[in-house]
Amino acid sequence: MTELTQNQLLELVTTKQIAAGNPRVRALTQRIVTDLFKTIDDMDVSADEFWKAMDWLARMSQGGQIGLITAGLGFDRLLDIRADEADQKAGRSGGTPRAIEGPLFIAGAPRSHGEARLDEGEPKGELLVMEGQVLDLEGNPVAGALVDVWHANEKGGYSHFFPGMKPYELRRQIETDAQGHYRFRSYLPPGYAIPPNSPTSELFEALGRHGNRPAHIHFLIAAPGLRTLTTQVNIPGDTYIDDDFAFATRDGLIVELEHNVPPAGYESLGISAPFTRSRFNFVMQKAINESEASPAARMARVTA
Ligand code: DHB
Ligand code: FE
Repeated sequence: MTELTQNQLLELVTTKQIAAGNPRVRALTQRIVTDLFKTIDDMDVSADEFWKAMDWLARMSQGGQIGLITAGLGFDRLLDIRADEADQKAGRSGGTPRAIEGPLFIAGAPRSHGEARLDEGEPKGELLVMEGQVLDLEGNPVAGALVDVWHANEKGGYSHFFPGMKPYELRRQIETDAQGHYRFRSYLPPGYAIPPNSPTSELFEALGRHGNRPAHIHFLIAAPGLRTLTTQVNIPGDTYIDDDFAFATRDGLIVELEHNVPPAGYESLGISAPFTRSRFNFVMQKAINESEASPAARMARVTA
């Protein structure tokens, strides 16, 4: 049996087996390979096109950019939409909407109690204090919630990914106080753009798409008994607020800004002149099992 048709080859590739293996991995691989065989045939993909794509994938993985294309191709938002649909079916609703984590979270940011400064030295943009409470669905304050917050610098870069930034720059973990309050000082980040001259930008250029995200701040909030909340808020007024390349902006997550807030009461954050403030409460659902309340697995993965 040395001559094979496409279908005979596909049959062999998807049925070969000498051990049980992992049934889920087997099923998913069979499906993806089947769909790709079909794509190659339907679209008459040439050998050159195929190997060029493989080279692109290899360069993208070597550069650690896999996470950068999943968002732009809609996969991150797709997973959120599916999670929302599952919640709706299960009758679970309420609380702050989830929004994509993005590929740029790093666990282990310096922890502080109640408040933190994310910026260092002179702010690199409009000074911002964001503050509020973490609440449960009944409106009870959640003391001791761990609020991870991270955002891009004035050039749109995230620490640990963008050259020249300090470890954990613009990343902190704030433990809420006895009344569930958190607050932090930073500066308003600009929008984000995918790195130029990279495998990611090659793809988006070939697709005739931009790679911009509107200005945003990420949050990952965990507390015992509550469902870990991954979300992000948007700064109003950004050109890309309704045209996010990652399709991740959502109603209810665009913050309001109060300008010229008097500095009294904000001395501990090094503030002595009128500044811009945003008040935002995060409302968390109850967890229905241990893993929903523990971001440990996720954290372990991102630090690995
Ligand atoms: C990407 C970047 C982000 O800052 C983000 O929040 C989501 C996605 C990206 O490059 O894909
Ligand atoms: Fe981001």
